[in-house]
Amino acid sequence: MWVYIEKIRDFVEQEVTIKGWLYNIRSAGKLMFPELRDGTGLIQGVVSKKEVSEKVWEDFGKLTQESSVIVKGLITRHPKKEDVYELQVKDLEIVAIAEPYPITPKEHGVDFLADRRHLWLRSPRQSAIMRIRNEIIQSIREYMYNNGFILFDTPIFTPNACEGTSTLFSTDYFDLGKAYLSQSGQLYAEAGALALGKVYTLGPTFRAENSMTRRHITEFWMMEPEMAFFDLNDNMNLIEDFLEYVVQRVIKNKKQELDFLGRDLSKLEKVKKPFPRITYNEAVEILRKKDIPLIRKTENGEEHIRPFPYGEDFGAPHEEAIVEAFDKPVMVHRWPAEAKAFYMKRDPENPKLALGVDVLAPEGFGEIIGGSQREDNLDFLLERIEEHQLPLEEFGWYVDLRRYGSVPHSGFGLGIERVVSWLCNLEHIREAIPFARRPNRIRP
Ligand code: 4AD
Ligand code: MG
Repeated sequence: MWVYIEKIRDFVEQEVTIKGWLYNIRSAGKLMFPELRDGTGLIQGVVSKKEVSEKVWEDFGKLTQESSVIVKGLITRHPKKEDVYELQVKDLEIVAIAEPYPITPKEHGVDFLADRRHLWLRSPRQSAIMRIRNEIIQSIREYMYNNGFILFDTPIFTPNACEGTSTLFSTDYFDLGKAYLSQSGQLYAEAGALALGKVYTLGPTFRAENSMTRRHITEFWMMEPEMAFFDLNDNMNLIEDFLEYVVQRVIKNKKQELDFLGRDLSKLEKVKKPFPRITYNEAVEILRKKDIPLIRKTENGEEHIRPFPYGEDFGAPHEEAIVEAFDKPVMVHRWPAEAKAFYMKRDPENPKLALGVDVLAPEGFGEIIGGSQREDNLDFLLERIEEHQLPLEEFGWYVDLRRYGSVPHSGFGLGIERVVSWLCNLEHIREAIPFARRPNRIRP
């Protein structure tokens, strides 16, 4: 019977067929130890010269790394290791002998691997990351479905900006001029929330940011819920409940993969609500106490500005310093309005502040969520569009939402690759998506 390696513990002392690839092989006299992978895991085979036909023995000798094979054998428990199984090989069918494989189990440089991403994905580490990514997305969909959110797919070709005009990718769109690749489905999700109550989008989004950091890619996946009749507080309550669910489900269902990556699960187990909530002003106080400067690029290097000035957005060193004292995601709310997008509602108690919230992951993984309560007043929204010099004619439909039964509403956007990086403890976001797009990389 054909079985997948991840299910192997259910077939102890049974004869099974495994279809996969040769990851590695060692030989010791009259024994060979091929390590097989099938995409779901790795298993060590034991080939004994006296137990198999001469042809099978010779064929194993011909196998190169990544040759594809169909192997039959008996599943046994490892004599010493708990929950480890072996395949006592009986038969081998070679599907295809691989040419000399460029990626060997030894260390390779990052560019070497990135150029061969189509093959690099076969490594046990990359496959563990992709499985965790799958679990994260499945958990998100499940939470949303179970909590009454309607999946609302928003367009990728759009005629306007959502998160600021400086990071738009454009393309020609027939006789209609330029189209832009969506930076966020939010504006459309707002229409969805006013139609359906609670909605979410989950899809690719694009930012033409020429930043080569460990946390930015130009094409990333974002999940964006949007809820009618939710204020900023309701929004933060949802974020807590949702993040706790996703993280706890992922560590429960993907323990093996997380262990393989060496992830410290005790840190993730602490991700339970309530999460700390601090204002932007309190966050700046933390930076000032720790004497973390704002760093500005200048013509001849960089300038360090102390104390950290109110009104500036945070970079990686600031986010790290802010979360240092906490072992949970930190919600930073009430931001200086000028640092944030046009659609955020102003704080009625201080109109210089926007009712925005950023969620910073613990352990220095940076911003994983950006959200806000939206401006629902027609006149204020028109002012904002003008202040930001956005083309009103492209926002007519969006403004309409404030003309026909406007209600308080809120939502947020969660970057999937940021969450994958956090839960998998990745140094660099390039490993968090099958084929990362960065300013200097569009291949493979
Ligand atoms: O904070 P952002 O820009 O917020 C929005 O786009 C809102 N429209 C969301 C909403 O309220 N519906 O982006 C949201 C999240 C960030 O917190 C981050 O996790 C991720 O998207 N993100 C990126 N991830 C990878 N690479 C990039 N270049 C990213 N830019 C944002
Ligand atoms: Mg943001």
